[in-house]
Amino acid sequence: MMRTAQPPPEPSRSGETCARRFAGVERNDPFTQAVRALCERRAAAKPATNAMNTESSRRPAARPPQPSTPSSGASPSATRSGPSDARAADAADAVELLQHEIKLPSLPSVLLELYEVAEDPRSSATDMAAVVSRDPGLAALLLRMVNSAFYGFPRRIDTVPRAVAVIGQRQLAMLATGGVVARIFGETPAETIRLETFWRHSVGVGILARTLARRLRLNDPERHFVAGLLHDIGRLALCSVAPERVRAALAESRRRAIPLRQAESQAAGIDHAAFGSMLLRKWNLPFSLALAVLRHHDPTREDAREEAAVVHVADWLMKALHPALEDEFLLPPLAEGAWERVGLPLSDLPSIAEDVDASLAATLSALRSGAA
Ligand SMILES: [Fe+2]
Ligand SMILES: [Fe+2]
Repeated sequence: MMRTAQPPPEPSRSGETCARRFAGVERNDPFTQAVRALCERRAAAKPATNAMNTESSRRPAARPPQPSTPSSGASPSATRSGPSDARAADAADAVELLQHEIKLPSLPSVLLELYEVAEDPRSSATDMAAVVSRDPGLAALLLRMVNSAFYGFPRRIDTVPRAVAVIGQRQLAMLATGGVVARIFGETPAETIRLETFWRHSVGVGILARTLARRLRLNDPERHFVAGLLHDIGRLALCSVAPERVRAALAESRRRAIPLRQAESQAAGIDHAAFGSMLLRKWNLPFSLALAVLRHHDPTREDAREEAAVVHVADWLMKALHPALEDEFLLPPLAEGAWERVGLPLSDLPSIAEDVDASLAATLSALRSGAA
């Protein structure tokens, strides 16, 4: 009996989504291959969700990156370069942005007091709770966070002193930082950025960074969570002072299929990593946090520390695995050696992805309720 040759399977909608997402990724190392395979497996398992919800399904198909020319400035090395991009662009634009600093929100003093108490070896959980209690919204937010799936404690934690005792003073100060900044920008009208999309991505990167830090047994996983949560905060800050430039950068990024930060440097004279880190320093938040934000796209720079590599990988993984949650058009280049620097086995990837799936919705809800 003659057999009819089977046609090759149609690429699924979800497979197309992954293919589009990875169109600009030039590297094909084992990490990239493993993430892409995982992306396809996950997309195939949830085809309806992906077909309905992906940002890219509502946009024109992505063009692969254009061959770089001297005039486009879109070479891979250019995309990996750091804030020198900003210097190469019109520096007058950056100065003008800084003059709009007045438009940026200020940080509530309660947060700086929390850091002071956390750093004082003589202080107690009660001292910490006394500071937190002056901001009932913050106290409620912290309790929601410690009782959420993010921590997964078996018993309910009802008081701030108990929360301090369970997770530690510095960790609570870090968590408060994330919550307070999310609250500040949750209230900022940002018509150029979909806040829902922005925060889902940011919270996902925070959870992934914390997961990586815990698996690597690094100190202060909360510090990594907050660095991940705030890594793109410069995008909201730029929206506050120069929404029209952010709109121009987004349009240019899509039109030329170039990384968003490159388009930001060209449209505003500074990218979101540099602008976000400047904002955190203006707020006197820890230098290590500002540095992680500054280098989250350049973790191999000499002055970058471990957090930047962890956040860079977390950011890239989130973009690869949750393409529906990202405003950027194409998956940007992964810094060479970033995964190797993190140093986890590839076999950990599926369970790392499950960690973010398990607590993303609950963590997002705990943080966002605080903005109300
Ligand atoms: Fe970024
Ligand atoms: Fe990001």
